[in-house]
Amino acid sequence: MRIKAFLFDLDGVLTDTSELHFLGWKRLAEEEGINFTREDNEALRGVSRRESLNLLLKGRQVTEEQALEMMERKNGYYIELVGQMTPADLLPGALKMLDENRRIGIKQAIVSSSKNAWLVLDRLQIGDMFDAVIDGNAPARSKPYPDLFLLASKAVGVPVKECLVVEDAEAGVQAAHAAGMRALGLGPVDRVGAAELVYDSLQRHTAQEILNFFN
Ligand code: BG6
Ligand code: MG
Repeated sequence: MRIKAFLFDLDGVLTDTSELHFLGWKRLAEEEGINFTREDNEALRGVSRRESLNLLLKGRQVTEEQALEMMERKNGYYIELVGQMTPADLLPGALKMLDENRRIGIKQAIVSSSKNAWLVLDRLQIGDMFDAVIDGNAPARSKPYPDLFLLASKAVGVPVKECLVVEDAEAGVQAAHAAGMRALGLGPVDRVGAAELVYDSLQRHTAQEILNFFN
């Protein structure tokens, strides 16, 4: 099946917000007397806010009210940091590929677990480059479930077999496969090695080269 749409994850694919998520969670962890390292943060890539908190708490029991307050607090720290982002925070190669897809008539969507996806897209000034934006506000299960990718396939009007997912997270590649889609993984093989094709980043690669591989 020929690829007719690229479904891009946002955090870690088009921009490196994982560092900002880390700083937000780290601040919360320090306030709560929990040890939280950059290495711990790797497991939070691509997973929902709620699941991230569960991982951060490392088994510590909290009430629902406390959990909600902690997520709010971390999100406040995160939003503060996102407010300083500019188009210069696009990862190398990202804008070039988005432009190329538009030029050659490939549909493209954002598929993100984040409830802040629009905020980030606005800071990067790329919101108008997509045929659809499916984010963590959708009434659907988060990655690694396939739901968000299935919604995106419908939104861009391209069957799942003709959608290519671009992901930096293990949970994202799992979600792509659960949806019946193929994936380009960005990052180390021990994280995204299940993807059909793995690159370090989008830099020095073209959409056409990716299409040649998959088609
Ligand atoms: C994903 C990030 O895109 O969104 C995760 O990779 C994050 O690290 C998740 O936890 C949820 O984000 P938010 O902005 O809704 O808290
Ligand atoms: Mg990601």
